[in-house]
Amino acid sequence: MKALRICVLGGTGFIGSHLVHRLDRLGHSVTVLTRRPERHREFRIGSSVRLLAVNPYDDNALQTLFSDTDCVINLVGILNQAGKSRFQPAHVDLPRNIVKAMRETGVSRLLHMSALNADVNETHSLYLKSRGQGEDLVHQAPGLNVTSFRPSVVFGPGDSFFNRFAGLLNMAPVLPLACPGARFAPVFVGDVVEAFVRALGDNSTIGRRLELCGPKTYTLKQLVEYTAQVIERKALIIGLPDFASRIQGRLLGLVPGKPFTIDNYYSLKKDSVCSESALTGLGITAHSVEAVVPAYLGKRSTRAQYYRYRTLARRS
Ligand SMILES: NC(=O)c1ccc[n+]([C@@H]2O[C@H](COP(=O)([O-])OP(=O)(O)OC[C@H]3O[C@@H](n4cnc5c(N)ncnc54)[C@H](OP(=O)(O)O)[C@@H]3O)[C@@H](O)[C@H]2O)c1
Repeated sequence: MKALRICVLGGTGFIGSHLVHRLDRLGHSVTVLTRRPERHREFRIGSSVRLLAVNPYDDNALQTLFSDTDCVINLVGILNQAGKSRFQPAHVDLPRNIVKAMRETGVSRLLHMSALNADVNETHSLYLKSRGQGEDLVHQAPGLNVTSFRPSVVFGPGDSFFNRFAGLLNMAPVLPLACPGARFAPVFVGDVVEAFVRALGDNSTIGRRLELCGPKTYTLKQLVEYTAQVIERKALIIGLPDFASRIQGRLLGLVPGKPFTIDNYYSLKKDSVCSESALTGLGITAHSVEAVVPAYLGKRSTRAQYYRYRTLARRS
């Protein structure tokens, strides 16, 4: 595949940094837009990656940037609304601006990150509804070649799922867990990145909404128990009944940092599992949680030591 000039929005986050690293290794020239360059001083992945301070909501700035771009990747997304960060601008207005700037500049290829269960007809979760609106909007844009991605929860080094629960379990011996029966098919970040890379070179993915899931399905409680096992922490994990989960969502939504909200509660009402994972069709063998998580979460495991050794070796 020839080297492309790729513009990535939301590329400084967990999935973005893995994806940008891979695109750089493949020889593409990558421009990563960020609102807050001061928070990403360490973000210097390779010689063909540049980090640019840009307000992504500024149409003119996007048009200028896209004028020498072959492909746009949009990874911007938020799980909770806080301060100026709202679902409508991040999930709907921004994709609209991206589409407009692409059409003005004649760039046609867009890879758009969405989420499982994104649905414009969702009545409770604003997160899922706004993601559905953004997804429909980019697919309906005339003249664009769009592939969107709908992953279940994504895991890997730097994730905010296993690392977050590991942090909570390290702090408290008792964990009251909302929505313990919610089901997930966690997908490895390396497999998500590979799906983006393959979609870039595969025109048959144009127009498709690709669901991405790992090989196994777990309940939330099973995943938290597994986390405790990996970090060798004895903890009492108490699955809350539905009414208490809802109350937890209401209460924790008022706490700074919003560790859990009523909108999260509504999203968890829908199982985050695929009807059919697109990974197999793309020729990707999905990694399991058990094969990867101990390598970055476990304290004393040989895998964790090996992973740290490899990370240090790569940095030196
Ligand atoms: N991680 C998962 O388990 C998972 C599962 C399903 C779907 N997704 C979706 O995948 C995408 C990437 O996820 P991630 O875990 O890598 O997220 P992340 O680590 O939070 O990174 C998201 C990036 O988006 C930018 N951003 C955040 N809020 C924004 C806002 N209000 N307006 C404009 N830009 C904003 C940030 O860039 P700057 O601060 O540098 O501007 C940040 O680097 C998101 O759309 C997410 O919803 C993730």
